Formats: sequence, structure tokens, C-alpha cells
Amino acid sequence: MLGLKEVYKDYFKIGAAINSLSLQYDFNILKKHFNSITCENQMKYGVVFRDNFEYEFSGADELYEFAKANNMDVRGHNFVWHNQTPFHIFTKSKEEVWQLLTDHIRIMNERYGDITPYWDVVNEAVEDKSSAFLRKSPWLMMFGEDYCNKVFGLAKSILPDNIQLFYNDYNEYIPEKRDKIVKLIKSINRDEKLVSGIGMQCHVNLYYPSIDLVKEAIELYASLGLRIHITEMDVSHFRFDDKQILNMPNPKLEELHAKAYGEYFKVFREYSEYIDNVTLWGVSDKYTWLDDFPVKNRKNWPLLFDENNQPKPALYSIMDI
Ligand code: GLA
Repeated sequence: MLGLKEVYKDYFKIGAAINSLSLQYDFNILKKHFNSITCENQMKYGVVFRDNFEYEFSGADELYEFAKANNMDVRGHNFVWHNQTPFHIFTKSKEEVWQLLTDHIRIMNERYGDITPYWDVVNEAVEDKSSAFLRKSPWLMMFGEDYCNKVFGLAKSILPDNIQLFYNDYNEYIPEKRDKIVKLIKSINRDEKLVSGIGMQCHVNLYYPSIDLVKEAIELYASLGLRIHITEMDVSHFRFDDKQILNMPNPKLEELHAKAYGEYFKVFREYSEYIDNVTLWGVSDKYTWLDDFPVKNRKNWPLLFDENNQPKPALYSIMDI
């Protein structure tokens, strides 16, 4: 069987979010099928920067070295987010926090920049539970309503020109949220193009969203002159509010799962002129973040390989192009 990355070499890179367990569980699959990785957690600010204001790079280094040894690139994920952030820095003054962030962006680029050509500079800044524009976060509280503009300006001033700066978010296809994301990016790019791309996370399920919503979102983001990465794709067998637990994947749903992946990837190929990277949020169903979200300790079977690392119908459906 060819590797996915071979099948898609004329379209876009194929990525996976990985952690150090993936290097044990999924080593061969990663090498064969993927040419890009995202550190699931290990490059996040709150993970590398410890309570004692010192850096701890071992987790990130391990994944970076794996990527480098295997000619993969790394999607840098991420600098500014309301989660997995070193919240203790906010006890410092505004000027000191800005300096820490400045140092952080520089340090991460110096250490990983040779194979990390894109960074999610801001993750999930837009509010989606109320009519508010931006989500309340310590960054917003400290730096004000235009903090994203400032952070992108800062990243642009520090990072070399060849590094692409991304805004990354979920539910990015839902019209109300999508339009807020568009408003945010337009405002950041008003005087100078600082945001080069949009990360469409694409955490979806068998029932939602419709493929048309995804297409509309791709077209709209592309019309702003943005590069597009699908950054965190997984397709759960369950609707978000469905709390049932199954011991085995239902074969009917497995078929729908393969069909859904096939349709998504067909759309991604159609828009490959704008899309440079499609990343899955995990490798095999042995471990994914959905094992504990939104229901604790439940399998969702969202990925392309099963719990024994065997290819699933979903893999075959996207290989067959
Ligand atoms: C968000 C983040 C990711 C990851 C997932 C859940 O989408 O961007 O880094 O934490 O949540 O695993």
C-alpha cells in the first residue's frame, strides 16, 4: 500500500498530532503515511514554560527530533491561547508579560524554526457561546480588545519572513462564528498582512456539519487571501450531545465514517489550490483526546487507524482518489 503522503503529494501535506506515546504506538504508521506533525501539547506555552519561569523542552525536543529525522515538518502550535498557558505570568506587569511573550516567540523559533514553517500565533480567540466578539481570556484582560492585532504584529516583527502566521479555531464553519473570525482577521490585516493563514480545526462528527458549510467557509477564508490548513481533523461517531457508550464500533457507523472522510477529502482536493496541510488530531483510535471528551472514558473511533493500528475503511476511502 502506498503511503497517504504519496497519494496526496500533489495536493497538500498530511499531518498528525502526536505525543510521546505516538512514537511507541504509531511509529511505523507515522513514518509511512505522514509528512507533517503537530505536537498535541508539547509545544504549548503552558507546557514548555514552568511555574519557576524556566523552560523545559524535553517533550517538545523528542517530537521535533523525530520529525527532523523523518523529513517531516512541524506545525507550531501555539503561542497565545486561553488554555494551557502559563497563567502565573499574569501576576507580572503588562510590560513584563509582553517581554516574556516576546522572548517566548523568539526562543521557540530559534529552537524549532528550521523545520517549523508555520505557527498558530493565536488559538481560539473568538467567543462562540454568546454574542460577544472575543472570548474572555487573560490575554484579553491584560492587553485589551485589540490584543490579537498586537500579538500578530509582535510575531511578525520577531519571526523570519518565510514563516507563516496562522489564526486557528474550532466551529470555524458555523456561520455566526465564521463571520466573527473573518471580522477578526480583517481587522488584524487591515494595514499590513499579518495573518497569512487560517487553521480550520475540523473537529466534526458523522452528523454535523454539512459539507456545504465547510465548503462555504473554505471559500470565504480563501477570498481573504488566506492560506488554509485543516489543523485538527477527527470525525467522531457521536453527535456532540449524544452520551451513549458503545463497546464496539457499530459497522453501519463505520461505513458512514468512511463515507464522511471520503467526502471531506474530496472537498479538500477540490480546494487544494488554497489548502497546504491537512492534519488529523491523532493517529490511531488506541488513543485520542476524544476518549475523554465530551464523555469520559468512551471510545469515539474518530481516526483512520483502529486500536490495533490497522487501517480502517476511512483510510481506504481517502486513498482511493
Ligand atoms: C483545541 C486545541 C488543541 C487540543 C484540542 C483538544 O482544539 O487547539 O491543541 O488541545 O483542543 O485536544
